[in-house]
Amino acid sequence: MIGIESLTKEYGGKAVVKDVSMRIETGTITVIVGTSGSGKSTFLRMINRLVEPTAGSVEIDGTDTRRMKAYELRRRIGYVIQDHGLFPHWTVARNVATVPRLLGWGREEIEARVHELLALLQLDPDEIAPRYPHQLSGGQAQRVGVARALAARPDMLLMDEPFGALDPVIRAKAQQDLKEIQERLGSTILLVTHDMSEAIKLGERIAVMSEGRVEQLAPPGEILTRPASAIVESLVGEEDRPFRYLSLLPIAPLVEPGSAEGPAIGAERSLRDALAEMIWSGREALPVVDASGRERGRVTRAALIAAGRPPR
Ligand SMILES: Nc1ncnc2c1ncn2[C@@H]1O[C@H](COP(=O)(O)OP(=O)(O)O)[C@@H](O)[C@H]1O
Ligand SMILES: [Mg+2]
Repeated sequence: MIGIESLTKEYGGKAVVKDVSMRIETGTITVIVGTSGSGKSTFLRMINRLVEPTAGSVEIDGTDTRRMKAYELRRRIGYVIQDHGLFPHWTVARNVATVPRLLGWGREEIEARVHELLALLQLDPDEIAPRYPHQLSGGQAQRVGVARALAARPDMLLMDEPFGALDPVIRAKAQQDLKEIQERLGSTILLVTHDMSEAIKLGERIAVMSEGRVEQLAPPGEILTRPASAIVESLVGEEDRPFRYLSLLPIAPLVEPGSAEGPAIGAERSLRDALAEMIWSGREALPVVDASGRERGRVTRAALIAAGRPPR
């Protein structure tokens, strides 16, 4: 558990992060979303003490970070930034091994770990490990950045706009992969973005920041249906809100007996995906299949529209 208590940062007497408190449970992913200049990066960097707080404290599993040595902070908190921050004159293997080397791990242990991490991030270790950062695509460099942050099995991962430099297709894949890795490893992640769609896609909880304050901290469905302030409402986007809400709801609970024409859709997909398919193929209903491809019934447009109406 990460406990953040009344964190404040002032520059020249002006507070850019104001009295922010939150608890982050182990194994969860929390997304901080807000416009540029709202204090997201400063907040994140106070957690690993790249920025020294003016006031407030951070505890990791009960230990105040002020009582931790710099190397211990590096080991316990992984950090990923937008332009990946890889050392240009080091190979991928050496970049990934940065923290384990600092910690004095043995050579074989480091090699095995680098191999394991590159494989986890779907990079061929034999091909990628000897390369230099300039020999990687943007997506590969981003993955290497994540591998490096995970190297010493940190308690927590801080990610500052980690997908900001990727084009939309690679970005969607990277988001999906991060979700899978997070679920598989049970990582605790705090991720910063200015993109509300990304926040809704990734966050179990979303903290909306504006002018240094947290306006609302809640699960995405609640942010969408019960925005705590006009600022949150404007960030959620009035015209996009119904579609964002549908993207959070799976098809499965709406499956009813009966058949429908045309290609089927997976029950685990979202109502947004179902609506898109209905519009594009001009159908009133879609056949629904489960993970093994067996037909389970159908979902109708009427049921979908009714389900997309937020609770009042
Ligand atoms: N080292 C610094 N000195 C002075 N002002 C800073 C410094 N770092 C950030 N700021 C200011 O703090 C505010 C928040 O910045 P930042 O945390 O980078 O926001 P975000 O990541 O949400 O875009 C901005 O107004 C920025 O100009
Ligand atoms: Mg920033």
